[in-house]
Amino acid sequence: MTKLRPIALRCEHHAAPMGLNRPAPRFDWALDGDGHNRCQSAYRLVVRAGENVLWDSGKVQSAQARQIEYAGTALASDLRCTWSVMVWDEENVASDWSDAQHFCTGLMHPEDWRAQWIARYFVLPAGREAPADNTYDNRWQARPADHLRRDFATVERPVRATAYVSALGLYELYLNGARVGDAVMAPGWTDYHQRVEYQSYDVTDLVGAGANTIGALIGEGWYSGRVGHNQRRAGNHYGGRPALLCQLHLEYADGRVETIVSDGQWTTSQGPVCYSDFLMGEQYDARLEMPGWSEPGFDASGWQPVEVFVPDPRPPRLEASRGPQVRETVRFAGRYLRQAKTGGHIYDFGQNIAGYVALELSGKVGDRFTLRHGEVLDGEGELYVANLRHAVATDHYIAKGEGRERFKPRFTFHGFRYVELTLPDGASPDDVTLTGIAIHNDLPVTASMRTGSDMVNQLLSNIEWSQRDNFISVPTDCPQRDERYGWSADAQVFWKTAGYVMDVSAFLQKWFEDIAEAQLPDGAFTDVAPSKPLNPYRITAQPGAPGWGDAPVILAWQHWLRYGDRALLERHFDRLVAWLKHIADANPDHLRVNAVYNNYGDWLSVGPASDRTMVATAYWVLVADLMAKLSGVVGRTDLVTHYAAQANAVRTAFIATFVDGDGRIAGDTQTAYLLALDFAILPSDLHQRAAAHLLRKLDEAEGHLQTGFLGVKHLCPVLSDIGSPQRAYDLLLNETYPSWGFSIAQGATTIWERWDGWTRENGFQSVSMNSFNHYAYGAVGEWLYARVAGIDWDEDAPGFSSIRMRPLFDRRLGWIEAHYDAPTGRVESAWRLADEIVTWDIRIPPNCTGQIELPRAPLSICAGDTPLPLTGPITTLGSGRYTFTLAI
Ligand code: BGC
Repeated sequence: MTKLRPIALRCEHHAAPMGLNRPAPRFDWALDGDGHNRCQSAYRLVVRAGENVLWDSGKVQSAQARQIEYAGTALASDLRCTWSVMVWDEENVASDWSDAQHFCTGLMHPEDWRAQWIARYFVLPAGREAPADNTYDNRWQARPADHLRRDFATVERPVRATAYVSALGLYELYLNGARVGDAVMAPGWTDYHQRVEYQSYDVTDLVGAGANTIGALIGEGWYSGRVGHNQRRAGNHYGGRPALLCQLHLEYADGRVETIVSDGQWTTSQGPVCYSDFLMGEQYDARLEMPGWSEPGFDASGWQPVEVFVPDPRPPRLEASRGPQVRETVRFAGRYLRQAKTGGHIYDFGQNIAGYVALELSGKVGDRFTLRHGEVLDGEGELYVANLRHAVATDHYIAKGEGRERFKPRFTFHGFRYVELTLPDGASPDDVTLTGIAIHNDLPVTASMRTGSDMVNQLLSNIEWSQRDNFISVPTDCPQRDERYGWSADAQVFWKTAGYVMDVSAFLQKWFEDIAEAQLPDGAFTDVAPSKPLNPYRITAQPGAPGWGDAPVILAWQHWLRYGDRALLERHFDRLVAWLKHIADANPDHLRVNAVYNNYGDWLSVGPASDRTMVATAYWVLVADLMAKLSGVVGRTDLVTHYAAQANAVRTAFIATFVDGDGRIAGDTQTAYLLALDFAILPSDLHQRAAAHLLRKLDEAEGHLQTGFLGVKHLCPVLSDIGSPQRAYDLLLNETYPSWGFSIAQGATTIWERWDGWTRENGFQSVSMNSFNHYAYGAVGEWLYARVAGIDWDEDAPGFSSIRMRPLFDRRLGWIEAHYDAPTGRVESAWRLADEIVTWDIRIPPNCTGQIELPRAPLSICAGDTPLPLTGPITTLGSGRYTFTLAI
């Protein structure tokens, strides 16, 4: 047996956070180690700054490996720390020290900031240079990117240099000609009127002795660019022009710290980025490049002084980045397809992504290369862009005519699988290489799953890609059309799935701040967060519909179950209470008829529509039940009974209003039964009857689903819970309309927004709303990981310290192989059917138990190679590898 090994060290949910928002960070680790029934009996954690020990926990007798709170010397700002941990196992054998991880404290207090917001003086229109020419004019009044720079001198090389940077808008930072960091779309989207995140970069290697130059490029992004769909208020949601905030700390060998900050000493100029807007695209004129602009010795005499300004309506709070940065992650070669009717050339990247295309080309000076982006081709093989609505999604590159040239846009992104490239006269596709670059928040991928069905494998891939494409600073509905908001119901139905595919803990920490800031004074959570751009007819945010406004409660509960992180609940608990009060105050009769706002119901269902008051009231039962549980978690026992009683009162009203004696629910839709069953609304006799109605509804639909966004998540889990897993498999494996398989049969590489996004009979759905990249229907993923593979959380032991393992075997699927890197360590599950026997191999990580639930008693169980005595269908096992065989 090997020693235990602490792995996957995390501080505040990051491998190495570069900035903290709390004085005492929390530490987590997972464990690795072979053998069986391995446990942590104690740990010791040491935090250092250089050689100084800031905290030595000493040996603590505890199995806890999550949320260990720092309890050492108070942490100063601008500190780089390392930490490592060792553990003792069940026999008190010590592990080695883990590899050291680091974290930086950042600028923790407002008074640490000496930098000022700087921007280009306001000039109209489109930020035009005086004297006016039309280089930067465009019909959207999208602004050119601003270059900002400052020279500075050092007497010697600093031993440590750290840059703290943010923008109202987007930025790229440069030091002595080198790009700093690899984040794109930084600092990300927040409500810039309230809070903006800053990033910290270790730039020690980029600062030298003597002359140095710091430079930044700033663009519009979510701040002043176009966001959303309403042309009455298309852009400028937070302000009119981007601004930069930057503070460079230079620490010398003798301990002296010098700071270079953004202030009136910087100068600014426009350059080759003529405009760059999320929805419109980017125009880049390489003839306007300014070689060496961020290096010493550059002649900046023509540059203008910047304006130091105080942002309206007040300077935002500065906080360290909570989520992992958006980065370029995967590249796809463009495959030439054909010449389009327009004369352009169509390329296929093979995958629907969010990102942009990098061009490598040769051209003459002034040659224009234009890229239009689309998710699909129409029946004639032409680029289909009608579903992008007002998003023009077009990039232009104007060549400088100097050998091989390279371009990729900076402050825009598109949702696309195909592009149409229009070439200048005389150029040929052979002169150009296209590479599609996917961007998204770079969260650790934590699961994989393969099965015996190519279609299901493609579905798993489509789920993962819709998640990648829609995790861009906030979880968005879609990345292509003029929308791209953080729609809350889309996220809540998908969140359990998302948490398998990637570690979403840090990402949610960030988005929960956006949700909290968007909450209205009357307690209403909003439809989208950040909330500003959504509804141009309101000054205040759009309050959340049932299922939408309820999302924060659901997300908080899931975050607790998956990560065992109480801090997020404690931080936001009062906000959840305010939301429940908002609902309850408006609905004294316990039917949710008031304060339902846009009441979208079971959005985009096909077949008969579900009664919206019924859906809303069912959701009230769910969130009241969850609040009772959450109240217990945060120690508000006074509220446990309050919410349990509220949930029961709403149940009673639900039954009295919507359910007849035969268990038939008003509207008689699949979603009606799914919600009532999964939210445990009905007493057991009605529950049984409702289950039979659900099966009848499926039969009436000839074995097809009919649910929309809210119902979809419950389909396969509920069918499995009511003893009909084969019906869940029928839906999974279906390839006729409407089904997941139908979209895949049409070549989908992401999850469609609508079941009927395209059908043979009707062609494309309405141009007014038809995305091919919305993750909501990907919510079936949770069933694949939790039930098909059997790797589920255990409500009694949050944070995966216990794993509920109840796989669902199916002859048609044949086999699966899956793993999930749980917070406690790697869980594996693989099963295979041969003849009449299924063999199931699992791995449970150390410090963890598996609650095994099988459809029938196994024929054999082996711990490694050692046979175990046979028990009934339910067993608790400690860590290690096991093999089961069962007759099927
Ligand atoms: C979005 C959604 C969202 C919905 C609200 C749509 O425009 O794309 O996914 O949840 O509006 O009904």
